[in-house]
Amino acid sequence: MTKRYYLTTPIYYVNDAPHIGHAYTTLACDVIARFKRLDGYDVKFLTGTDEHGQKVEKSADKAGVAPQAFTDRVSQNFRDLADFMNFTHTDFIRTTEPRHKKACQEIWRRLKDNGHIYLDKYAGWYAVRDEAYYAEDELTTNAEGQKIAPSGAEVEWVEESSYFFNLSQWEQPLLKFYDDNPDFILPKSRRNEVISFVKGGLRDLSISRTTFKWGVPVPGDDEHIMYVWLDALTNYLTSAGFPDADNEGFDDYWPADLHMVGKDILRFHAVYWPAFLMGAGLPLPKRIYAHGWWTNEGQKISKSLGNVIDPIELVNKYGLDQVRYFMLREVPFGNDGDFNHQSMINRMNGELANDFGNLSQRVLSMIQKNCAAQVPVPGDYTEDDNQLLVAVHNLLDGCRGHIDVQSFNESLESMWVVVRAANAYVDTQAPWKLKKQNPDRMKTVLYVLAETIRHLAILMQPFTPLSSGKMLDQLAVEDGERTFEFLSAETPLVSGRSLPKPEGVFPRFVEEEG
Ligand code: MSP
Repeated sequence: MTKRYYLTTPIYYVNDAPHIGHAYTTLACDVIARFKRLDGYDVKFLTGTDEHGQKVEKSADKAGVAPQAFTDRVSQNFRDLADFMNFTHTDFIRTTEPRHKKACQEIWRRLKDNGHIYLDKYAGWYAVRDEAYYAEDELTTNAEGQKIAPSGAEVEWVEESSYFFNLSQWEQPLLKFYDDNPDFILPKSRRNEVISFVKGGLRDLSISRTTFKWGVPVPGDDEHIMYVWLDALTNYLTSAGFPDADNEGFDDYWPADLHMVGKDILRFHAVYWPAFLMGAGLPLPKRIYAHGWWTNEGQKISKSLGNVIDPIELVNKYGLDQVRYFMLREVPFGNDGDFNHQSMINRMNGELANDFGNLSQRVLSMIQKNCAAQVPVPGDYTEDDNQLLVAVHNLLDGCRGHIDVQSFNESLESMWVVVRAANAYVDTQAPWKLKKQNPDRMKTVLYVLAETIRHLAILMQPFTPLSSGKMLDQLAVEDGERTFEFLSAETPLVSGRSLPKPEGVFPRFVEEEG
C-alpha cells in the first residue's frame, strides 16, 4: 500500500513582501516533505497565498492598483521565494482561483444545511491586521487612547449584518477531540493554552462581511462575502480536490497529516478549523504544530522598526543550505528564536564547515591519496569500528522519531552526536599513521568513515539538499541510491568505485575586511 503524507504551510497574506518568518514556516515543511519522500512516502506539500479580505484590499488601495492585479504581483513574489529557497511544494494555491471559490461555497452550504449558520447583526471590534474579531474585555487602550488587541493590532468598531457560525456549540466536541487525540496540537504547552481557551467558553463567530467586496460571495446572498479566515482555512480542502475528487469528494490525501503554523495563528487552526470541519461533517487533520517567532538581534521584527530580515539577502550572504541549517538548528522548533550574525557564523563555521565538512574532506582526501581514489575494501571490524557503525545504523530510527514530532534540532543533534564520534574516531585510529604500519587496517578505518559520511549525507539531504548531494557525488553514491532504503548494514557503500577529486562542500564564512 502507498504511504501518503499531506502537509501544508499557512497561506501567506499578499499585503507584504515575503520575509524570514514566511520562509521559516515553509522551510520546516520542506524538510519534512523531503524527509518523508526519502522515507518512501508519496508526499503532497501545499503552500500558497491568502488573497482576500480587508487587509489585502486596503494594501491594494494604498498601492493604487486593483486587488486582482495587486495580488497577482505579490503572489508571484512568494512563488519566487519558494523557488529561491529550493522548496519542493507540489501545489501552490491562490485563494482567488475558481477551484477555491467553489470549495468555499460548498463548505458554506454544508454548514448551512447542517444548521450551523444563522443571520444576525454583528456589533463589535475588528482588527484588520489580524483579520480577527475581539471582545471588549480582551482589549487594552494605548497612550493615544486607541483600543488595542492582545496581538498589538489596532481595532475598529464594526456594526453590520452578518452570518454567524454557532461556535459556542462546539466547546464539548472540541474538548473531547483534544482529549481523544493528545498529539493533535503540538508542542504540548500550546495544546494546554488552546484547551484553556476553549474551556473559557466560545462565542458564536461572525463569518461574513458586508462593508467591502474583496472576497468569496456567500452562496445565495451576494450582499455578503465570506469571512477571510473561513475562506483561507478552506484552502487545505481545495487543494485536496474538495468537493469534486473521486474519493468521497477528496483526492487520496485528505485528511492532512500536518498543518504547520506560527503560534500567532494557532487559534484559527486548532479551534475554528476543527469546528468548521465537524460542522460540515468532514474528517479532521491529524496534527497542528505551532512554531515560535524570530526576533532580529533581540528585537521584534517589524516594518516600522525597519529590521525586517529579507531571506534573499541572508542566503546571498551566508549560502542557502547554511541558512536552512541554521534556522532549524539554532532553536528548538516550538520556541522563539533570535537571529543574530554571530550565532549564524558559529553554526556555519563550527558545525557545517569544521565538524562535518572537514570530516568529509579529510577522509575523502586520504582515500584519494592512499587508496588509489577508490572506495577501499574493509577488513574485519574491531570493537571501535562496530561501535561507530551501530550508532550510524541507528540514526534513521532516531531521526524518524524526531521528525514525526517536528523536532528538527533534535534530529540534527542526533546526527551531530555521530559527527563528533566520527571525528573522535579519526583521532584515535589515526589512519595517517596506519598508512605505513598497517595499510589494510587504514583501509578499514577509512571505509568505516566513508560509510559514516554516506549515512550522514543521506540523512542531511532534507536540511542541506545541495551540499549533501555534492557530498554523495564525491562518495560515488548514485542518484538512485540516496533514499533511506539504502541506510542499513545490508546496503553498504560499494567498495572499488572510483571517487572524484574531493572538494570542500561547506565553506567557512570569512568576515570582509574593513
Ligand atoms: N494568511 C494567514 C494564514 C492563513 S492560513 C489558512 C497569515 N498569513 S501571514 O502571512 O501573516 O503569516 C504566515 C506565517 O508567517 C504565520 O505562520 C506566521 O507565524 C509566520 N510569521 C510571520 N512573522 C514571523 C516571524 N517573525 N517569525 C516566525 N514566523 C513568523 O497569518
